[in-house]
Amino acid sequence: MKLPKFFSSSTHDMAIDLGTVNTVIYVRDRGIVLNEPSVIAIETQNGIRRVKVVGNEAKLMMGKTPAGIQAIRPLRDGVIADIDVAEQMIKHFVDKALGGSSRFGRRHEVVICVPSGSTMVERRALRDAASNAGAFRVQLIEEPMAAAIGAGLPVTEPRGAMVVDIGGGTTEVAVLSLRGIAYSNSVRVGGDKLDDAISSHVRRTHNLMIGEATSERVKHLIGSAVAPEGQGRTLTVKGRDLVNGRPAEITITEAEIADALAEPVGQIKSAVMSALEQTAPELSSDIIDEGITLTGGGALLGRIDEALSETTGLPVKIADDALMCVAMGAGRALEDTAYDGVLTIG
Ligand SMILES: Nc1ncnc2c1ncn2[C@@H]1O[C@H](COP(=O)(O)OP(=O)(O)OP(=O)(O)O)[C@@H](O)[C@H]1O
Ligand SMILES: [Mg+2]
Repeated sequence: MKLPKFFSSSTHDMAIDLGTVNTVIYVRDRGIVLNEPSVIAIETQNGIRRVKVVGNEAKLMMGKTPAGIQAIRPLRDGVIADIDVAEQMIKHFVDKALGGSSRFGRRHEVVICVPSGSTMVERRALRDAASNAGAFRVQLIEEPMAAAIGAGLPVTEPRGAMVVDIGGGTTEVAVLSLRGIAYSNSVRVGGDKLDDAISSHVRRTHNLMIGEATSERVKHLIGSAVAPEGQGRTLTVKGRDLVNGRPAEITITEAEIADALAEPVGQIKSAVMSALEQTAPELSSDIIDEGITLTGGGALLGRIDEALSETTGLPVKIADDALMCVAMGAGRALEDTAYDGVLTIG
């Protein structure tokens, strides 16, 4: 059903990329208005649960909450692990994006980005969460399609384009052509797995326990998908000594972190290779010319473009604003009739 212009031109229409690690909201005619960690802190008092803070403030609390407060990431591996909490988080973000509690009483359309590998049940959960948060009409867009539009790839043309979206929970590889997904493949490997690989390496080889935030920082500062010559850069990290239980600090090198990241990075490489192997020949020849485009926060991992280019023998480029591509693309699909057909109801 096409809505009357009166409703569809409402400035409250929005696209939401509810990511495992970050939530990004795009509002029609305004662009990206919110980009915050997908974290919510819940306080329980006398058995009653109440949202304390969401987003940036909640992330700062992770691993440091006092009794009675829990900082939760309601999404894991790219899908909703805790539906009630996820719904609360969406409500808070939508309010924040609209600059107050204008959530109800306005008829806004919402586009929600869904991983291409998600099941009907998972999609329904996301739709319901958005409806309960006050959306008048909910449409879905597949994340790789949104990522490709956001990266400026020619998805409406009869020309194959490959996008690899490396998020926090999943890596999605897709080949797009003529507004459709010709092939897609998703693996549950992303930034979170890279962080885990770093913390288990530090625990095993240095007997040091480090928190999630610290391993993520190590990844941002010296993480690399290709081993450096020699030991590369070094970084001092603090944590708890597993032998004597005391706070301690050690120095780690770029080379050892590259080695620790080799396994999850290898899984990303395999996902890309298997996508190439299963792509129809006419589309493959387009990909040879166009190369592969990387989106998502994982695209910012040091030398990941080089690693994938070496494995595939194809040119690989990192999209501008890689972390925003999915939300930008979903927003454009909402605004621009050139993309009619990429949004679905179910
Ligand atoms: N400079 C960087 N180097 C390496 N990793 C980075 C960098 N910047 C961000 N990341 C990682 O990118 C990930 C978040 O990316 P993104 O926001 O695209 O994920 P998401 O959309 O929330 O997850 P998903 O799509 O899997 O649901 C985090 O793991 C973060 O640590
Ligand atoms: Mg994402």
